[in-house]
Amino acid sequence: MPVTVRLVPGGTTSKVAEHETVLAAALRQGIHLPYGCHGGSCAQCRARMVAGEVAYPDGLPLALAAPDLNRGEALLCRAVISSSRHRKSPPSPVSGSELCPAGWCDSNGWPTM
Ligand code: FES
Repeated sequence: MPVTVRLVPGGTTSKVAEHETVLAAALRQGIHLPYGCHGGSCAQCRARMVAGEVAYPDGLPLALAAPDLNRGEALLCRAVISSSRHRKSPPSPVSGSELCPAGWCDSNGWPTM
């Protein structure tokens, strides 16, 4: 069952199919997000989770260390949506998964555009 992911700022939404990466879903729908290698090693697709959770079914990407995970960072080329129930800060009035791609938010996850 597809999951709706909201990209902040701007509120663009993307339908992500089960087992589809967030980046693949966005590109399929014509949403231009930064990326490079598609393999988890360049970190060009880095994003901050505002709400929800992602999983890495093929293992933790090379460019994503435990401290990055603890800060709520994700690599969209390898991340699949795992849950929309868990919310990370900062709080938001909307439910579901939200991601702020690199360059769209400050270091605290707040929108900069
Ligand atoms: S595109 Fe290189 S790590 Fe995601």
